[in-house]
Amino acid sequence: MSRIIAIANQKGGVGKTTTTINLGIGLARAGKKVCLIDLDPQGNTTQGLGFNPDELEVTISTVLDKIIDKDYKICKDYGILKLAEGVDIVPSNIELSAMEMKLISVYIGREKILSTYLEMIKESYDYVLIDCKPSLDIITLNALTAADSVLIPVQAQYYSAKGLEQLLSTITQVVVSGLNSRLKIDGILFTLVNDRTCSFKLVSEVIREAYGQNIHIYANYIPRSVKAEEAPAAGMSIYRYDDKGTVSEAYVRFTDEFLRQEGMA
Ligand SMILES: Nc1ncnc2c1ncn2[C@@H]1O[C@H](COP(=O)(O)OP(=O)(O)OP(=O)(O)O)[C@@H](O)[C@H]1O
Ligand SMILES: [Mg+2]
Repeated sequence: MSRIIAIANQKGGVGKTTTTINLGIGLARAGKKVCLIDLDPQGNTTQGLGFNPDELEVTISTVLDKIIDKDYKICKDYGILKLAEGVDIVPSNIELSAMEMKLISVYIGREKILSTYLEMIKESYDYVLIDCKPSLDIITLNALTAADSVLIPVQAQYYSAKGLEQLLSTITQVVVSGLNSRLKIDGILFTLVNDRTCSFKLVSEVIREAYGQNIHIYANYIPRSVKAEEAPAAGMSIYRYDDKGTVSEAYVRFTDEFLRQEGMA
């Protein structure tokens, strides 16, 4: 059975893309069939895996355009790129910005366009991971409507808890409104952690106290490292760029924890 997971947080720069890439490849290394959907006009997942977004003719925008125009004849692998590291990706580029206006103008079912597409391809995969953009607009709403669950990367910083409130309220609205009543929260993953400062301890305690009763907080967290900062510019996953580094090891452990939690679900 395939699972669709939105990696979301409207706060920018919290590790959504890095987590999409490295959890995705981690799952592929564990033998799972994985497709990454780059749902951000910044195209960072696309770029971070070595593609030049500006050179791509077929992207997630082209795909969504066809669905909006009810051109359902696109074949299953239309627009999907295959990577040596064992994951597939539906790439993105700046054209996705224009899609926001087009989606808004759809008369009925504007939140369900991505879902319609993923229904067509999801059976080929164990996991479809959606890298969301840093906003809660109609494009991200499409991700939340299509997903079975949301994974929330949170940077352990003083202001993180505030932004979480808005995201959680949007998730609740998606469920209560019936747009996607099966939507669950997988958990909160702390990212970009500098564990030599006390702010991580403080912020993680605040978030644990505020949300820990209702939301799973992963035991593993992702530390900050210079290599992880450099990897996207090299167009490589952390496993390829710095296989023995702290961030690579953290994503391996987190992938294990994620899979263990899946087993219990
Ligand atoms: N563990 C880490 N250590 C150091 N730098 C990191 C780490 N994880 C991510 N980064 C860097 O931090 C920046 C933000 O990460 P990332 O792009 O994954 O966040 P994002 O939430 O997807 O951002 P956006 O909201 O813009 O889409 C990037 O430059 C990335 O290379
Ligand atoms: Mg990103």
